Amino acid sequence: MIVNEFIPKPYQHLLDRGIAAYSAPSNIALVKYWGKKAHQIPANPSISFTLNNCKTTTVLKYEKKTSEGFSFDVFLEGVIQEDFKPKIEQFFSRIEIYLPFLSAYHFVIETSNTFPHSSGIASSASGMSALALCLMQIEQQLNPTISKEFFNKKASFLARLGSGSACRSIEGNLIVWGAHANIKGSSDLVGVKYPYEVHQNFKNYHDTILLVDKGEKQVSSTVGHNLMHNHPFAEQRFEQAHSNMDALILVLKSGDLNTFISIVEREALTLHAMMMSSDPYFILMKPNTLQIINKLWEFRAKTGLHICFTLDAGANVHVLFPESEAKQIQEFIKTELAVHCQNGHFIEDMLGQGAQPIKI
Ligand code: PMV
Repeated sequence: MIVNEFIPKPYQHLLDRGIAAYSAPSNIALVKYWGKKAHQIPANPSISFTLNNCKTTTVLKYEKKTSEGFSFDVFLEGVIQEDFKPKIEQFFSRIEIYLPFLSAYHFVIETSNTFPHSSGIASSASGMSALALCLMQIEQQLNPTISKEFFNKKASFLARLGSGSACRSIEGNLIVWGAHANIKGSSDLVGVKYPYEVHQNFKNYHDTILLVDKGEKQVSSTVGHNLMHNHPFAEQRFEQAHSNMDALILVLKSGDLNTFISIVEREALTLHAMMMSSDPYFILMKPNTLQIINKLWEFRAKTGLHICFTLDAGANVHVLFPESEAKQIQEFIKTELAVHCQNGHFIEDMLGQGAQPIKI
């Protein structure tokens, strides 16, 4: 599948060398993407909060080369990472048609995360979006006339080809990816800003990430997505995502936090239910994930506060809550939930405005 809109005209001249730098945030899905078709097309629409503190910063240096093919070295926190190479090589080969300069340069990719590596927080969304944005910055250096709007759109398009959910990490703070009948401008190819009214209740919404298990995931999301092919509940699940998006449109407008909670928690548990009912089946939650969920539910029943959880493809728990209730809930997290985290670690995050270029 080739999308002509993103194929550039031949460059007038290639710079000999240069540098690009961007920082891009992670995101947390409210309605989950789980299952994909060829060419990184999602099986259903999803919507996410862009985060503020969990970020990847990437500095990309490039220099003209004469050899054939792709050439790059990649460093994480200053340490060379041979095991990142296959994923980046695959990413480059998917996007070369859209960025023909890729084989003209040797690249040095220097990347670092604000969250600890192996914290179990998916760094692929922030990592792939930061890299896509650096590559777009190079394209802009070669063709300074491209607009900000096109820059972001193509960055999202490229990031999706690296890691699906990365296309939701370019802008803030509520992003839709995947065509939905009732969301104007929504697309399977790029993440777009949620285009409708959002109630004050969602302003500065918090996400505290409880680090339950910092180890490597036993099952990659690529494998998980593929298990949705021939999954006995796949079609119902994809339909459910469409109707949960409809329900969320109403909630985002009205500010109805109780309905928000029921949509978000059902989405999280459905994601894991899909994993638990695939063939082969698997479980990514850990005993502490369930401890936290049960304590959170008890606390919510007792206090009436609007605390809820969501989960990624892992054991960590994202605790979501409105700004107006932040003090009491943060106290509860520190005193009651942190004990279930590995080494007591958690990360306080909240809604963010998207990626930023870095001056170097
Ligand atoms: O972007 P991927 O292929 O790593 O998939 C991520 C999928 C979930 O994080 C589980 C859900 C989502 O929508 O972000």
